[in-house]
Amino acid sequence: MQTKQFSKILIDWQKIHGRHNLPWQVAQPYARWISEIMLQQTQVSTVIEYFERFMRRFPTVQDLAQASEDEVMQYWSGLGYYSRARNLHRAAKIIVEQLDGQFPQTREQWESLPGVGRSTAAAIVAFSFGVRETILDGNVKRVLMRIYALQSSADDRQTVKELWTLAESLLPQQDLDAYIQGLMDLGATICSRNPKCILCPFKERCKAFSLGLQNDIPKPKKR
Ligand code: ADE
Repeated sequence: MQTKQFSKILIDWQKIHGRHNLPWQVAQPYARWISEIMLQQTQVSTVIEYFERFMRRFPTVQDLAQASEDEVMQYWSGLGYYSRARNLHRAAKIIVEQLDGQFPQTREQWESLPGVGRSTAAAIVAFSFGVRETILDGNVKRVLMRIYALQSSADDRQTVKELWTLAESLLPQQDLDAYIQGLMDLGATICSRNPKCILCPFKERCKAFSLGLQNDIPKPKKR
């Protein structure tokens, strides 16, 4: 499939069937950063309420940096993966004390903050500043591996490298927000662990589906 075709199908699908009006869908780095960290290991439906409560108590990075760690942990309580909250608090202090309260503007600068990996950094700069960076989280890996019928393991180093290159090559010039959100939404709602291929905009083009391999890709993790 041509890259233009891939992004057009995804963007058209996202605009109709994707998720809209989520409380963090604003072009603001603080809200985008907090929400992306919460969404790393937690579903949208759970995050909404936590995000809104967190933003009411800590509306700015200065409020977060000045709070005690105990209080930040209280607002995280129930979300799990508590190192996320500790890293968020540490990063807030770095932004306020070392970066003069200015948010980084590039993916690489975001990645240097605690708790922010490449995909999270990419989502933050793409959504906040329109920087043309691709995400590649677990959902997106699954989508790409199925569409291209990649049968290696999703955590194989070489495969991950190839997936980043593939994901970068697919990035459109226009409608970056809908495209990135579309990758997330398709992976979470259609191309999920038990995929709903009948509803998928790629069903005529997905190699895994045409081979009947959608439930075997990606290969389960070795344990
Ligand atoms: N998962 C990770 N980031 C997300 C976002 N911004 N919206 C919905 N789901 C997500």
